[in-house]
Amino acid sequence: MTEPSNDLTAVDRVNRADWRRRLIVIGLILILPVIALSFVLQIMRINRPVDQPTDEMYFRYGSIGSDVEGVPYWVFRVLPDVCPTQLPGGYASLGVIQEPGMPTPIGFSRRQIGPVEIVGPNCGLCHTASVRATPSSQPMIITTAPAHQLNLMAYFRFLFACGRSENFTADKVIPAIEKYKPLSLFERITYRYVVMPRLQKALTDKGKKFDSIIAGRPEWGYGRVDTFNPYKVLVFNLDMSNDKSIGTARFMSIWNQAEQQGAWHHWDGNNDSLEERNLSAAIGAGVVIDPASFDWDGLERIKDWLWNKQAPKYPFPIDLALANTGKPLYDRLCKSCHDPSGEHFGSVTPLDRIGTDPDRSLAFDKAMADRMNTIGQGQPWAFHRFRSTGGYGNHSLEGIWVRAPYLHNGSVPTLDDLLKAPDKRPVKFYTGYDVYDPKHVGFVGNVPSEGSRSFLEFDTTLPGNHNSGHVYGAEMSDADRAALLEYLKTL
Ligand code: HEC
Ligand code: HEC
Repeated sequence: MTEPSNDLTAVDRVNRADWRRRLIVIGLILILPVIALSFVLQIMRINRPVDQPTDEMYFRYGSIGSDVEGVPYWVFRVLPDVCPTQLPGGYASLGVIQEPGMPTPIGFSRRQIGPVEIVGPNCGLCHTASVRATPSSQPMIITTAPAHQLNLMAYFRFLFACGRSENFTADKVIPAIEKYKPLSLFERITYRYVVMPRLQKALTDKGKKFDSIIAGRPEWGYGRVDTFNPYKVLVFNLDMSNDKSIGTARFMSIWNQAEQQGAWHHWDGNNDSLEERNLSAAIGAGVVIDPASFDWDGLERIKDWLWNKQAPKYPFPIDLALANTGKPLYDRLCKSCHDPSGEHFGSVTPLDRIGTDPDRSLAFDKAMADRMNTIGQGQPWAFHRFRSTGGYGNHSLEGIWVRAPYLHNGSVPTLDDLLKAPDKRPVKFYTGYDVYDPKHVGFVGNVPSEGSRSFLEFDTTLPGNHNSGHVYGAEMSDADRAALLEYLKTL
């Protein structure tokens, strides 16, 4: 038998080879887009949070789900370079805590979504404090304590101002990123045609909403946020033009949740469910509700960790003999409301009795409570424990030394001032500085700036900022006040 090919002429063989080549090319033309498409689809399907080795690290840098719809990491990184005049001191000037070698400040998680890494805020942003013994000391970083040094309003203001400015274009953002890291052609195309147009629209839309949330209200300033009014705009799409309520409140401490079981929480005691508080906090931090983008595993991990996380001990010397003489004063004057064994612990003192600024409590009215209780309807996690109280909650004073400035609106700089009658408390003082004042128990309140950071002069005469009320102990002698103050350091 002869080989068939032996029967072919040289011309036939060339023609056949030609045809084979053509078929391969046609095949490739047909298949390549399919391969490319499935490759792109594979990439688009990626949704992977960056994990952390310990629970403490997870609290600082782990995901709660707000990074599903956050800002791309590299855009976040270069934003201060893109809009230098709007944030001359960079993120550090806002009071965020940057640990050496970490890609983001504390309070931001990262998640790979498709080809792009996204960042979003987490619990650590508002619940991590910085404390220094002196201006030249290393800061102590105290997770689960209120971030008194953070100007969150200035962060949002910068984000939306830069996002809406003429500098925020692909032509400026891409080269700014490439100063730190080369981008592949695929990445450059993604940033130019997908990321930037989306982000420009999102920051413009959210910026308008942010404007309506803050319009006509005093600065949140350092360590505070309007807690529930943003829900009206971001979740319930309400028009704020006729809503003058001020819901501004200090970030709280969130350690030792085991001890808070059964108590009514948030400043006004509007909710007694730990799950609902954590989930509503996550929504406040940017988790989307529909379809829900909660990172359930991450939130569970944080919840378990907060359960037994202990309050930080006072880090400076305590005169224990003096503190012991202060204990009976605490037992007599304070314990009934503030100690977990007290008869009024975890309940609410009405506004007319407590006498502190009413705005935060009034802002969470019955209509708002009803609205909050519609969130998640039909889901196993649906909210139903919100209520309006007309007062402020009686909470534990554990770790009170690091929770300055005091009261729900942060209107009293030190514990020493709080134990005096309201007319003896400072009318104006600076907030945001993290150097501690052990004598008066609170942060130093007379320093207007340090390096690139300007602190806010807190004005207690503005609406929502009043320093009235809570007169317990105001009649004490100076000696008794010193003893009680010393005792409060031990809590
Ligand atoms: C944007 C800042 C911010 C972020 C982010 C944030 N919180 Fe808070 N948190 C607050 C403020 C402000 C309050 C006080 C709210 C009020 O009553 O007005 C609070 C209160 C709380 C409370 C109630 C404490 C008490 O004793 O009543 C808990 C619990 C809590 N947060 C947990 C969390 C968890 C868990 C996360 C992350 C999932 C988180 N928070 C994220 C600002 C924040
Ligand atoms: C009748 C109940 C009641 C008694 C008694 C009471 N408090 Fe309070 N306390 C409250 C309430 C309610 C708040 C929250 C008020 C606000 O933030 O507007 C509060 C707030 C505080 C705060 C600020 C907490 C923070 O995180 O900013 C401190 C500190 C404090 N009390 C200390 C004391 C001391 C010390 C005594 C005793 C001399 C005392 N309280 C007696 C109800 C009480």
